Amino acid sequence: MIPVITIDGPSGSGKGTLARRLAEQLGFHLLDSGALYRLTALAAQKRNIDLEAPEVAAVAQSLNVRFDPDGAAYLDDACVDSVLRTEQTGAMASKIAARPDVRAALLERQRAFATAPGLVADGRDMGTVVFPDAPAKLFLDASAQIRAERRYKQLIENGLSANLAALVEEIQARDDRDRNRAVAPLVPAEDALVVDSTHLSIEAVEARMMEFIRAQG
Ligand code: C5P
Repeated sequence: MIPVITIDGPSGSGKGTLARRLAEQLGFHLLDSGALYRLTALAAQKRNIDLEAPEVAAVAQSLNVRFDPDGAAYLDDACVDSVLRTEQTGAMASKIAARPDVRAALLERQRAFATAPGLVADGRDMGTVVFPDAPAKLFLDASAQIRAERRYKQLIENGLSANLAALVEEIQARDDRDRNRAVAPLVPAEDALVVDSTHLSIEAVEARMMEFIRAQG
């Protein structure tokens, strides 16, 4: 069986960075599942399809995307990386992600990322729904304030504009939607190691996670 490490958690918890670092250390492939929801929302928007319309599931099913080796995302062969990471796109993604038909349409595409020598997958339901048999499951949390501050820094570093107070509100609204939806809500898997990164450096979180992964064999 292909070893899969899952990292779930709310937006801005640092799971994307951690997933990348763990994948590098282990020499595994990487799945940023949030990018697939973001890309589906962008593809629907590009085709002028309302995010509540039934056609969104077909858009998810036939998504024409690729990622270059450093993770930049292409939709229909156009690089969409900068618009992909905005909070507006995140909010659109979280709206369509509450739909069972969209989640079902993306399920097999996500599972197909599990190829040798192994996969690190980050998202909201990696350990609970997409890879329930993964040998090592992690759940990364942090306070909403610190997550908004980190996201703010990230956006500014990427040359995008941002407003911290608005980010706190947006992050809380997105969290509420992700945690309280009927399908695949954001919850730690029963067998996940939960790490709160509010007062921990990336390095400290990484060390704790690696220790857990090694202990799972
Ligand atoms: O992780 P990221 O912020 O890119 O995810 C964007 C949105 O996509 C999340 O707010 C969530 O609603 C949705 N998502 C999801 N399941 C995943 C990954 C992301 O529902 N596995």
